Amino acid sequence: MGKQGKEAKRSSSNRRASRRGFGVATWVVLAGALAGIVALAAMHQGPSSPGRATALDPERVARGRAIFEANCAACHGTNGVGEDPANAEGGYPAPPLDTSGHAWHHTDRDLAAFISNGSPNTPRMRAWKTTLTQEQIGDVVQYIKSLWGPRERSCQGPRHMDPACR
Ligand code: HEC
Repeated sequence: MGKQGKEAKRSSSNRRASRRGFGVATWVVLAGALAGIVALAAMHQGPSSPGRATALDPERVARGRAIFEANCAACHGTNGVGEDPANAEGGYPAPPLDTSGHAWHHTDRDLAAFISNGSPNTPRMRAWKTTLTQEQIGDVVQYIKSLWGPRERSCQGPRHMDPACR
């Protein structure tokens, strides 16, 4: 290969190298931007973000409150504050259902199922599915959620284990 040929080869391989270099840089920038977007999205939906909790339907909450006051408040207290353990028969006080309890550690579905089927531990918390429709039980769950703060509502269910929710 002559001098000219070598030069041509070198400059073309330089061009290739610089093209490759540009390619890598572009990917680094793109990956960085993507990571940024993912991080922002995660932050936005993060457990500490109250915005993620779905809004409650005020009509369902109002219906749920009436059902709760008629059927549940005798044990669970006005506004779901819970029963004085000293008054509870059989060692199973009716727990608070507001922010001071841990009802919010359960999903809507689990709460509805528990209310439907009752407690396996004590007949005091009986199965309500014979008295209330699933729609009414759903209304009561909405009412119970209205007793929670934004943290409990956005950290509800298994998300309560997230470090940001503790
Ligand atoms: C006669 C008293 C009594 C009445 C009335 C009653 N409960 Fe309960 N409830 C209890 C007791 C006691 C427990 C605790 C059961 C256990 O520890 O397994 C309980 C547990 C619960 C829990 C589980 C809470 C948690 O943090 O795990 C929910 C939810 C609940 N009740 C909702 C209701 C709703 C809704 C009604 C009305 C439709 C109702 N209860 C009526 C006594 C009652």
